Amino acid sequence: SASGPGAGPLSGYPVIAHRGGPARHAEESVAAYRAVAAQGFALELDVQPLADGTLVVMHDDTVDRTTDGTGAVRDLTLAQWQRLRLADGSTPPTWDQVVEEFGDNLLVPEVKSPDALRPLIASVQSHRLEDRLVAQSFLPEDARALAASGIPAMLLTSAAAPARDLASLRDAGVDYIGASAATPDLTRYADQTREAGLGFAVWVVNDAGAAAGLVRSGAVSVFTDDPWAMRTALRSG
Ligand code: G3P
Ligand code: CA
Repeated sequence: SASGPGAGPLSGYPVIAHRGGPARHAEESVAAYRAVAAQGFALELDVQPLADGTLVVMHDDTVDRTTDGTGAVRDLTLAQWQRLRLADGSTPPTWDQVVEEFGDNLLVPEVKSPDALRPLIASVQSHRLEDRLVAQSFLPEDARALAASGIPAMLLTSAAAPARDLASLRDAGVDYIGASAATPDLTRYADQTREAGLGFAVWVVNDAGAAAGLVRSGAVSVFTDDPWAMRTALRSG
């Protein structure tokens, strides 16, 4: 785990390209990740399994919104997945493709389905990605399991349910809280998080001034749909 708030893999990465930065490219597409990787941003992606267990990269439970297909991701075969086309005509990536092309960049995968947890842990360990990655989940049990496996972990929290057991999460080795930007009294939550010894990140912030203000006041990173708008306000390391 990180040695203190702000330490750990996100140090030097104030900008995390949420879903690859859909303001300019197809959401969670290879082209999006290429563009943001070239700028030195961290890459956020959502991970879930197909019917055969292959981990793929997509936000929604179904392929309906972002591809030309229909149906639940978890019901598809790999052959069906590879026939899908995103808005830019490309095939949505698998997790292995992302690791192969972008494994030297800072990856921020989210465990989007409970079935993705164990395969993601196994993949991170086998590729020795622990120094190049922060894995996130809205489920505290996922964040604890990631930390117990030696993988830098972020617990995502919604506006309605900020984490109340910060010291316990820290003791379990969880490194970061990823708070909704809509959390009431966000500044106080940030202070409590850092006082408990956890790093604090915020999702999703698309205003460059707001993002710069959060980082100035101690947030380690912000997730944004438009990393290019942040370039002058926030330098990536
Ligand atoms: O990782 C933060 C953010 O991605 C969580 O929201 O719905 O975009 O996965 P969502
Ligand atoms: Ca996500």
